[in-house]
Amino acid sequence: MTDQSVGSRRPYRIAVFASGQGSNFQTLIDASREGTLGAEIVLLVCNKPEAPVVERAHRAGVDCFVFERKAYSRREDYEVEIAEELERRGVDLIVLAGYMLLLTPVLVDAYQGRMINIHPSLLPSFPGKDAIGQAWSYGVKVTGVTVHLVDGGMDTGPVIAQKVVEIQQGDTRESLEEKIHAAERDLYPQVVGWFAGGKIRIDGRNITIS
Ligand code: GAR
Repeated sequence: MTDQSVGSRRPYRIAVFASGQGSNFQTLIDASREGTLGAEIVLLVCNKPEAPVVERAHRAGVDCFVFERKAYSRREDYEVEIAEELERRGVDLIVLAGYMLLLTPVLVDAYQGRMINIHPSLLPSFPGKDAIGQAWSYGVKVTGVTVHLVDGGMDTGPVIAQKVVEIQQGDTRESLEEKIHAAERDLYPQVVGWFAGGKIRIDGRNITIS
């Protein structure tokens, strides 16, 4: 029997990795508090000590692992430290929410099928940085948000869920950004809830929700 079995059920534990504002982190905190997430946020990992997301974590009483990239010669070195923090807390799922560092196999391999990312476009369109700006400049009429499993590539992992956002006449780059963030607020807690509820089935690139 596993930890998740009847009789020994413990809260599903997630760690959020973020580098900036932390609006997605805040959404997850709020959902966790309201009891709609089905998961407990046990750690924030952040590579920017001055990022607003760190203050949000302090206010919410969430433990933080904050580091600076330049303090380490190799990316693997800080990831080994992060992996120890995750293991100590029994983290079930890593949730990337605007984490702007590339990951190495230290974490990608250890959390295969247990690490998700949110990206502000309909992948495989507009991967990488400034996806909202890329979509806006291209002039697409439909864009959106993707939640995917993390593999070794840049925004290439199997898609779990997508939410469409239409670009309408009169929209601006700023109004598009607001629509995308609203879609993220809807989608990310829902997907975390699917993981926490054991509803995700992974078969190669084919992911189904039961
Ligand atoms: C979000 O829009 C997220 O989709 C994006 O960073 C933003 C973080 O905002 N992630 C990526 O572009 C990853 N390629 P937040 O710090 O307010 O949650």
